[in-house]
Amino acid sequence: TRTRVAIVGGGPAGLALSHLLHVAGIDSVVIDNRTYHEIETTHRAGILERDSVRLLLDSGVSDRVLRDGHEHQGIDIRFGGVSHRIDFQNLVGASCWLYPQTDVFIDLHAARTRDGGDLRYGISEAAVTDHRDEPHVTYTDADRRRHEITAELVVGADGSRSICRDLVADPQRYFREYPFAWFGILAEAPQSAPELIYTRSPHGFALISQRTPTVQRMYFQCDSDENPDDWSDDRIWAELQRRVAGDDGFSLNEGPIIQRSVLPFRSFVQSPMRDGKLLLAGDAAHTVPPTGAKGLNLALADVRVLADVVERALVKNDDAALDSYTSRALTRVWKAQHFSYWMTTMLHRSPDASDFDELRQLGELTTLVSSEAGSTYLAEGYTGWPHH
Ligand code: DHB
Repeated sequence: TRTRVAIVGGGPAGLALSHLLHVAGIDSVVIDNRTYHEIETTHRAGILERDSVRLLLDSGVSDRVLRDGHEHQGIDIRFGGVSHRIDFQNLVGASCWLYPQTDVFIDLHAARTRDGGDLRYGISEAAVTDHRDEPHVTYTDADRRRHEITAELVVGADGSRSICRDLVADPQRYFREYPFAWFGILAEAPQSAPELIYTRSPHGFALISQRTPTVQRMYFQCDSDENPDDWSDDRIWAELQRRVAGDDGFSLNEGPIIQRSVLPFRSFVQSPMRDGKLLLAGDAAHTVPPTGAKGLNLALADVRVLADVVERALVKNDDAALDSYTSRALTRVWKAQHFSYWMTTMLHRSPDASDFDELRQLGELTTLVSSEAGSTYLAEGYTGWPHH
Protein backbone atom coordinates (compact mmCIF):
# COMPACT_ATOMS: atom_id res chain seq x y z
CA THR A 1 0.00 0.00 0.00
CA ARG A 2 1.08 3.55 -0.65
CA THR A 3 -0.37 6.35 1.48
CA ARG A 4 0.63 9.83 2.53
CA VAL A 5 0.74 9.28 6.30
CA ALA A 6 1.16 5.91 8.05
CA ILE A 7 -0.17 6.08 11.61
CA VAL A 8 1.05 3.48 14.09
CA GLY A 9 -1.58 3.25 16.84
CA GLY A 10 -5.35 3.32 16.46
CA GLY A 11 -6.33 4.69 19.86
CA PRO A 12 -7.86 8.16 20.25
CA ALA A 13 -4.65 9.98 19.19
CA GLY A 14 -4.09 7.98 15.99
CA LEU A 15 -7.75 8.04 14.98
CA ALA A 16 -8.17 11.76 15.72
CA LEU A 17 -5.13 12.53 13.57
CA SER A 18 -6.40 10.32 10.75
CA HIS A 19 -9.75 12.14 10.95
CA LEU A 20 -8.25 15.66 10.92
CA LEU A 21 -6.00 14.70 7.99
CA HIS A 22 -9.02 13.34 6.12
CA VAL A 23 -10.83 16.65 6.67
CA ALA A 24 -7.74 18.36 5.15
CA GLY A 25 -7.84 15.99 2.15
CA ILE A 26 -4.82 13.89 3.21
CA ASP A 27 -4.97 10.06 3.09
CA SER A 28 -3.64 7.92 5.90
CA VAL A 29 -3.55 4.28 7.01
CA VAL A 30 -3.89 3.36 10.68
CA ILE A 31 -2.53 0.11 12.17
CA ASP A 32 -2.81 -1.24 15.71
CA ASN A 33 -1.83 -4.56 17.26
CA ARG A 34 -4.87 -4.53 19.53
CA THR A 35 -8.34 -5.45 18.31
CA TYR A 36 -11.21 -2.96 18.26
CA HIS A 37 -12.83 -4.95 21.06
CA GLU A 38 -9.72 -4.82 23.28
CA ILE A 39 -9.49 -1.03 23.03
CA GLU A 40 -13.23 -0.52 23.41
CA THR A 41 -13.28 -2.48 26.68
CA THR A 42 -10.14 -1.00 28.29
CA HIS A 43 -11.28 1.52 30.90
CA ARG A 44 -9.34 4.75 30.84
CA ALA A 45 -9.91 8.36 31.84
CA GLY A 46 -13.26 10.08 31.88
CA ILE A 47 -12.86 13.85 31.62
CA LEU A 48 -12.62 16.01 28.49
CA GLU A 49 -11.37 19.58 28.47
CA ARG A 50 -13.47 22.25 26.79
CA ASP A 51 -11.34 22.25 23.62
CA SER A 52 -11.29 18.44 23.41
CA VAL A 53 -15.10 18.60 23.22
CA ARG A 54 -14.88 21.38 20.63
CA LEU A 55 -12.50 19.26 18.55
CA LEU A 56 -15.05 16.41 18.41
CA LEU A 57 -17.86 18.81 17.53
CA ASP A 58 -16.18 21.27 15.16
CA SER A 59 -14.26 18.72 13.08
CA GLY A 60 -17.41 16.68 12.52
CA VAL A 61 -16.53 13.55 14.53
CA SER A 62 -19.81 13.35 16.43
CA ASP A 63 -22.09 15.36 18.69
CA ARG A 64 -22.83 12.34 20.89
CA VAL A 65 -20.77 13.95 23.69
CA LEU A 66 -23.56 16.55 24.00
CA ARG A 67 -26.20 13.84 24.42
CA ASP A 68 -24.41 11.07 26.33
CA GLY A 69 -21.76 13.16 28.11
CA HIS A 70 -22.30 15.36 31.16
CA GLU A 71 -21.18 18.95 31.50
CA HIS A 72 -19.43 19.57 34.82
CA GLN A 73 -19.17 23.22 35.83
CA GLY A 74 -16.86 22.53 38.76
CA ILE A 75 -15.23 19.97 41.05
CA ASP A 76 -14.97 19.51 44.79
CA ILE A 77 -11.63 19.61 46.58
CA ARG A 78 -12.07 17.86 49.93
CA PHE A 79 -9.68 17.91 52.88
CA GLY A 80 -10.01 17.99 56.64
CA GLY A 81 -13.37 16.27 56.07
CA VAL A 82 -14.83 19.36 54.35
CA SER A 83 -15.62 19.85 50.64
CA HIS A 84 -14.76 23.08 48.80
CA ARG A 85 -16.31 23.66 45.41
CA ILE A 86 -14.14 25.08 42.62
CA ASP A 87 -16.66 26.80 40.34
CA PHE A 88 -15.16 26.67 36.84
CA GLN A 89 -17.94 28.70 35.22
CA ASN A 90 -17.64 31.56 37.72
CA LEU A 91 -13.86 31.57 37.69
CA VAL A 92 -13.03 31.09 34.00
CA GLY A 93 -16.35 30.73 32.15
CA ALA A 94 -15.58 27.16 31.04
CA SER A 95 -16.67 23.61 31.83
CA CYS A 96 -15.24 20.14 31.41
CA TRP A 97 -17.24 17.09 30.31
CA LEU A 98 -17.58 13.66 31.81
CA TYR A 99 -17.29 11.47 28.71
CA PRO A 100 -15.20 8.29 28.95
CA GLN A 101 -12.20 7.75 26.69
CA THR A 102 -13.81 4.55 25.42
CA ASP A 103 -16.68 6.66 24.04
CA VAL A 104 -14.23 9.08 22.41
CA PHE A 105 -12.60 6.03 20.78
CA ILE A 106 -15.96 4.63 19.62
CA ASP A 107 -16.96 8.00 18.11
CA LEU A 108 -13.63 8.50 16.31
CA HIS A 109 -13.69 4.94 14.96
CA ALA A 110 -17.26 5.39 13.74
CA ALA A 111 -16.34 8.68 12.01
CA ARG A 112 -13.33 7.12 10.24
CA THR A 113 -15.44 4.14 9.17
CA ARG A 114 -18.22 6.47 7.93
CA ASP A 115 -15.64 8.43 5.91
CA GLY A 116 -14.01 5.36 4.37
CA GLY A 117 -10.88 5.37 6.53
CA ASP A 118 -8.30 2.56 6.18
CA LEU A 119 -8.03 1.09 9.71
CA ARG A 120 -6.21 -2.18 10.35
CA TYR A 121 -6.64 -3.61 13.86
CA GLY A 122 -5.36 -6.87 15.33
CA ILE A 123 -2.08 -6.86 13.43
CA SER A 124 1.29 -8.00 14.84
CA GLU A 125 5.04 -7.59 14.31
CA ALA A 126 4.77 -3.94 13.26
CA ALA A 127 8.07 -2.32 12.32
CA VAL A 128 9.07 1.07 10.93
CA THR A 129 12.12 1.36 8.67
CA ASP A 130 13.87 4.11 6.74
CA HIS A 131 12.03 6.89 8.60
CA ARG A 132 14.56 9.55 7.58
CA ASP A 133 14.29 8.91 3.85
CA GLU A 134 11.33 6.88 2.55
CA PRO A 135 9.36 5.48 5.50
CA HIS A 136 8.03 1.92 5.35
CA VAL A 137 5.76 0.26 7.88
CA THR A 138 5.60 -3.53 7.78
CA TYR A 139 3.31 -5.81 9.77
CA THR A 140 1.67 -9.26 9.85
CA ASP A 141 -2.12 -9.57 9.57
CA ALA A 142 -4.38 -12.04 11.40
CA ASP A 143 -3.91 -14.58 8.53
CA ARG A 144 -0.09 -14.40 8.95
CA ARG A 145 0.38 -12.44 5.71
CA ARG A 146 3.10 -9.76 5.68
CA HIS A 147 2.16 -6.28 4.48
CA GLU A 148 4.14 -3.18 3.63
CA ILE A 149 2.95 0.43 3.69
CA THR A 150 5.02 3.12 2.01
CA ALA A 151 4.33 6.66 3.23
CA GLU A 152 5.66 10.19 3.08
CA LEU A 153 5.42 10.55 6.88
CA VAL A 154 5.01 8.13 9.79
CA VAL A 155 3.28 9.07 13.04
CA GLY A 156 3.90 7.09 16.23
CA ALA A 157 0.67 7.33 18.21
CA ASP A 158 1.35 3.94 19.75
CA GLY A 159 1.03 4.71 23.42
CA SER A 160 3.22 4.25 26.46
CA ARG A 161 4.85 1.07 25.09
CA SER A 162 5.65 2.79 21.79
CA ILE A 163 7.91 1.08 19.24
CA CYS A 164 8.27 4.40 17.36
CA ARG A 165 9.71 6.33 20.30
CA ASP A 166 12.99 4.37 20.16
CA LEU A 167 13.62 5.40 16.54
CA VAL A 168 14.31 8.98 17.61
CA ALA A 169 18.10 9.41 17.68
CA ASP A 170 19.74 10.63 20.90
CA PRO A 171 16.54 11.61 22.70
CA GLN A 172 16.35 13.41 26.02
CA ARG A 173 14.17 11.41 28.41
CA TYR A 174 12.78 13.03 31.54
CA PHE A 175 11.25 10.84 34.28
CA ARG A 176 9.62 11.31 37.62
CA GLU A 177 8.49 8.34 39.74
CA TYR A 178 6.02 8.58 42.64
CA PRO A 179 6.02 6.38 45.75
CA PHE A 180 2.35 5.34 45.25
CA ALA A 181 -0.17 4.30 42.58
CA TRP A 182 -3.94 4.33 42.06
CA PHE A 183 -6.37 1.52 42.73
CA GLY A 184 -9.26 2.02 40.26
CA ILE A 185 -12.70 0.45 40.45
CA LEU A 186 -15.99 0.41 38.59
CA ALA A 187 -18.97 -0.18 40.86
CA GLU A 188 -22.65 -0.75 40.24
CA ALA A 189 -24.03 1.92 42.53
CA PRO A 190 -25.96 5.19 42.36
CA GLN A 191 -23.99 8.45 42.19
CA SER A 192 -22.72 9.80 45.50
CA ALA A 193 -22.34 13.41 44.32
CA PRO A 194 -23.25 15.50 41.26
CA GLU A 195 -19.60 16.31 40.39
CA LEU A 196 -16.14 14.82 40.91
CA ILE A 197 -14.56 14.89 44.37
CA TYR A 198 -10.78 15.00 44.78
CA THR A 199 -10.04 14.10 48.41
CA ARG A 200 -6.94 14.45 50.53
CA SER A 201 -7.17 12.51 53.80
CA PRO A 202 -4.75 11.29 56.48
CA HIS A 203 -5.22 7.83 54.92
CA GLY A 204 -4.29 9.04 51.42
CA PHE A 205 -5.94 10.37 48.29
CA ALA A 206 -9.31 9.30 46.84
CA LEU A 207 -11.18 10.40 43.72
CA ILE A 208 -14.93 9.94 43.33
CA SER A 209 -15.89 9.97 39.65
CA GLN A 210 -18.79 8.62 37.62
CA ARG A 211 -19.69 6.77 34.46
CA THR A 212 -23.49 6.44 34.22
CA PRO A 213 -26.38 6.90 36.65
CA THR A 214 -25.86 3.27 37.73
CA VAL A 215 -22.08 2.75 37.31
CA GLN A 216 -19.49 4.77 39.23
CA ARG A 217 -15.72 5.12 38.82
CA MET A 218 -13.53 5.63 41.87
CA TYR A 219 -9.83 5.58 42.64
CA PHE A 220 -7.74 5.57 45.79
CA GLN A 221 -4.05 5.95 46.43
CA CYS A 222 -2.32 2.61 47.11
CA ASP A 223 1.20 1.15 47.18
CA SER A 224 2.78 0.73 43.75
CA ASP A 225 3.09 -3.06 44.24
CA GLU A 226 -0.51 -3.54 45.45
CA ASN A 227 -2.26 -6.66 44.10
CA PRO A 228 -5.93 -5.90 43.32
CA ASP A 229 -6.92 -9.52 44.00
CA ASP A 230 -5.93 -9.11 47.65
CA TRP A 231 -8.85 -6.73 48.14
CA SER A 232 -12.40 -7.88 48.91
CA ASP A 233 -15.29 -5.58 48.00
CA ASP A 234 -15.81 -4.87 51.71
CA ARG A 235 -12.20 -3.88 52.22
CA ILE A 236 -12.27 -1.55 49.18
CA TRP A 237 -15.45 0.19 50.38
CA ALA A 238 -14.11 0.56 53.92
CA GLU A 239 -10.93 2.17 52.56
CA LEU A 240 -12.85 4.57 50.30
CA GLN A 241 -15.34 5.47 53.06
CA ARG A 242 -12.67 6.38 55.59
CA ARG A 243 -10.91 8.59 53.07
CA VAL A 244 -14.02 10.65 52.29
CA ALA A 245 -15.39 10.69 55.86
CA GLY A 246 -15.94 14.06 57.58
CA ASP A 247 -18.00 15.94 60.11
CA ASP A 248 -20.51 16.75 57.37
CA GLY A 249 -21.49 13.06 57.41
CA PHE A 250 -20.74 12.51 53.72
CA SER A 251 -20.55 8.87 52.64
CA LEU A 252 -20.47 6.89 49.40
CA ASN A 253 -23.29 4.81 47.94
CA GLU A 254 -21.93 1.26 47.74
CA GLY A 255 -22.60 -1.63 45.37
CA PRO A 256 -20.94 -4.59 43.63
CA ILE A 257 -17.44 -3.87 42.28
CA ILE A 258 -17.38 -5.02 38.64
CA GLN A 259 -13.84 -4.07 37.63
CA ARG A 260 -10.61 -3.32 39.50
CA SER A 261 -7.01 -2.58 38.57
CA VAL A 262 -3.88 -0.81 39.78
CA LEU A 263 -2.88 2.03 37.45
CA PRO A 264 0.69 2.95 36.49
CA PHE A 265 1.74 6.26 37.93
CA ARG A 266 4.61 8.32 36.60
CA SER A 267 5.67 11.39 34.65
CA PHE A 268 7.67 11.04 31.45
CA VAL A 269 8.66 13.24 28.50
CA GLN A 270 10.77 12.42 25.47
CA SER A 271 12.29 15.18 23.38
CA PRO A 272 12.43 15.73 20.46
CA MET A 273 9.05 14.44 19.31
CA ARG A 274 10.26 14.14 15.73
CA ASP A 275 13.14 12.53 13.84
CA GLY A 276 13.23 12.91 10.05
CA LYS A 277 9.83 11.87 8.70
CA LEU A 278 8.70 10.29 11.97
CA LEU A 279 6.58 12.25 14.46
CA LEU A 280 5.27 11.16 17.89
CA ALA A 281 1.92 12.02 19.46
CA GLY A 282 0.32 11.35 22.85
CA ASP A 283 1.63 8.74 25.29
CA ALA A 284 4.31 7.63 22.82
CA ALA A 285 6.08 10.90 23.67
CA HIS A 286 4.87 11.65 27.19
CA THR A 287 2.99 10.26 30.18
CA VAL A 288 1.36 12.18 33.01
CA PRO A 289 0.10 10.80 36.34
CA PRO A 290 -3.70 10.54 36.17
CA THR A 291 -4.53 13.22 38.78
CA GLY A 292 -6.20 16.04 36.83
CA ALA A 293 -7.17 13.88 33.81
CA LYS A 294 -4.67 15.42 31.39
CA GLY A 295 -3.43 12.34 29.42
CA LEU A 296 -6.11 11.99 26.74
CA ASN A 297 -6.58 15.76 26.48
CA LEU A 298 -2.87 16.25 25.95
CA ALA A 299 -2.82 13.60 23.21
CA LEU A 300 -5.68 15.39 21.42
CA ALA A 301 -3.85 18.73 21.73
CA ASP A 302 -0.70 17.14 20.18
CA VAL A 303 -2.84 15.86 17.33
CA ARG A 304 -4.31 19.29 16.68
CA VAL A 305 -0.79 20.73 16.28
CA LEU A 306 0.38 17.69 14.31
CA ALA A 307 -2.49 17.90 11.81
CA ASP A 308 -1.53 21.52 11.11
CA VAL A 309 2.17 20.67 10.77
CA VAL A 310 1.51 17.70 8.45
CA GLU A 311 -0.88 19.71 6.28
CA ARG A 312 1.68 22.50 5.89
CA ALA A 313 4.42 20.00 5.05
CA LEU A 314 2.45 17.85 2.59
CA VAL A 315 0.02 20.29 0.98
CA LYS A 316 1.92 23.58 1.12
CA ASN A 317 5.41 22.03 0.83
CA ASP A 318 6.49 24.03 3.86
CA ASP A 319 9.62 22.13 4.98
CA ALA A 320 10.07 24.22 8.13
CA ALA A 321 6.67 23.04 9.44
CA LEU A 322 8.02 19.69 10.66
CA ASP A 323 10.86 21.47 12.45
CA SER A 324 8.37 23.48 14.52
CA TYR A 325 6.45 20.46 15.85
CA THR A 326 8.50 19.58 18.94
CA SER A 327 8.65 23.09 20.36
CA ARG A 328 4.99 23.82 19.60
CA ALA A 329 3.84 20.58 21.24
CA LEU A 330 6.24 20.60 24.20
CA THR A 331 5.16 24.02 25.47
CA ARG A 332 1.77 22.58 26.35
CA VAL A 333 3.23 19.20 27.41
CA TRP A 334 5.31 20.83 30.14
CA LYS A 335 2.38 22.96 31.35
CA ALA A 336 0.33 19.76 31.64
CA GLN A 337 3.25 17.96 33.30
CA HIS A 338 3.38 20.69 35.92
CA PHE A 339 -0.39 20.69 36.42
CA SER A 340 -0.54 16.89 36.86
CA TYR A 341 2.47 16.86 39.17
CA TRP A 342 1.00 19.73 41.20
CA MET A 343 -2.44 18.10 41.58
CA THR A 344 -0.71 14.83 42.50
CA THR A 345 1.67 16.18 45.13
CA MET A 346 -0.97 18.49 46.62
CA LEU A 347 -3.48 15.68 47.23
CA HIS A 348 -1.47 12.49 47.92
CA ARG A 349 0.24 11.32 51.08
CA SER A 350 3.90 10.63 50.61
CA PRO A 351 4.99 7.65 52.76
CA ASP A 352 8.02 9.61 54.03
CA ALA A 353 6.20 12.92 54.69
CA SER A 354 7.18 14.69 57.92
CA ASP A 355 4.72 16.60 60.11
CA PHE A 356 6.02 19.77 58.47
CA ASP A 357 5.26 18.34 55.02
CA GLU A 358 1.71 17.39 56.02
CA LEU A 359 0.90 20.79 57.53
CA ARG A 360 2.47 22.62 54.59
CA GLN A 361 0.27 20.56 52.27
CA LEU A 362 -2.84 21.60 54.22
CA GLY A 363 -1.60 25.21 54.00
CA GLU A 364 -1.38 24.85 50.25
CA LEU A 365 -4.90 23.40 49.99
CA THR A 366 -6.29 26.15 52.22
CA THR A 367 -4.62 28.76 50.02
CA LEU A 368 -6.05 27.10 46.91
CA VAL A 369 -9.66 27.09 48.06
CA SER A 370 -9.63 30.47 49.83
CA SER A 371 -7.83 32.46 47.12
CA GLU A 372 -9.55 33.42 43.89
CA ALA A 373 -6.13 33.52 42.23
CA GLY A 374 -5.36 29.97 43.43
CA SER A 375 -8.75 28.58 42.45
CA THR A 376 -8.56 30.30 39.06
CA TYR A 377 -5.31 28.54 38.19
CA LEU A 378 -6.93 25.19 39.02
CA ALA A 379 -10.06 26.04 36.99
CA GLU A 380 -7.99 27.19 34.01
CA GLY A 381 -5.73 24.15 33.98
CA TYR A 382 -8.52 21.64 34.59
CA THR A 383 -10.87 22.92 31.89
CA GLY A 384 -7.80 23.23 29.66
CA TRP A 385 -5.66 25.89 28.07
CA PRO A 386 -7.01 26.87 24.64
CA HIS A 387 -5.83 24.95 21.58
CA HIS A 388 -4.08 27.23 19.10
C1 DHB B 1 -11.22 10.27 35.93
C2 DHB B 1 -9.85 10.00 35.91
C3 DHB B 1 -8.95 10.95 36.33
O1 DHB B 1 -7.63 10.69 36.31
C4 DHB B 1 -9.39 12.19 36.79
O2 DHB B 1 -8.48 13.09 37.21
C5 DHB B 1 -10.74 12.46 36.79
C6 DHB B 1 -11.65 11.51 36.37
C7 DHB B 1 -12.19 9.24 35.50
O3 DHB B 1 -11.75 8.16 35.06
O4 DHB B 1 -13.39 9.47 35.60
